[in-house]
Amino acid sequence: DDAHKLRVALLEWYDLNRRDLPWRTHHHEDGEKEKEEEVERRAYGVWVSEVMLQQTRVQTVIAYYNRWMQKWPTVHQLAQASLEEVNEMWAGLGYYRRARFLLEGAKKIVAEGGKIPKVASMLRKIPGIGDYTSGAIASIAFKEVVPVVDGNVVRVIARLRAISANPKDSATIKRVWKLAAQLVDPVRPGDFNQALMELGATLCTPLNPSCSSCPASEFCRALSNAKYDSTVAVTDY
Ligand code: ADE
Repeated sequence: DDAHKLRVALLEWYDLNRRDLPWRTHHHEDGEKEKEEEVERRAYGVWVSEVMLQQTRVQTVIAYYNRWMQKWPTVHQLAQASLEEVNEMWAGLGYYRRARFLLEGAKKIVAEGGKIPKVASMLRKIPGIGDYTSGAIASIAFKEVVPVVDGNVVRVIARLRAISANPKDSATIKRVWKLAAQLVDPVRPGDFNQALMELGATLCTPLNPSCSSCPASEFCRALSNAKYDSTVAVTDY
């Protein structure tokens, strides 16, 4: 069906175009046993990077992420840090509450046994981890089949489904989360979610989207509407 074809097209595009970012480690091949430590490290790295990425561009985050991971390579080491050290490391990123939540979250995880929860519903109990961050950690680090919706994904899905409602409206966002949950790839949920975010950041931009290069163009209702009705544009969604 269409959802399946869209998943295949998006993942193929992502495989060819994904940026090599320090928090993007590769999953092992099936059958190859991954060490528990590596899984934990990846989950911690995804957590730190996704919190940093919430209000900051990728290019800026890279240096902050590398410095942070050098100072506190594990959740156990972060849990020993002081708020002053954490704020110092965060200087320039803004929204210092996010840094404090990372520290509080690390302390809670260590106090409760030291393992990062593997499912979104449990991750959400950690301070500062909401729907977005829980979905990102669970899908990217642990392959749980859950969606991730940020501002870019709202726009991409609104266009794919020709939803012209206000993208800032909480009812619209709720609807997009439901659609994203139906769309997420069951085998590669983390890559699929990152592909949607990356598509929104690179091709499916707010203005002048690059529809002619888009892997999802044949599944995009905003584009097909624009083709037969000259009074609407892809940017109306
Ligand atoms: N924006 C926020 N998180 C991202 C990710 N994991 N991949 C691509 N873009 C992102």
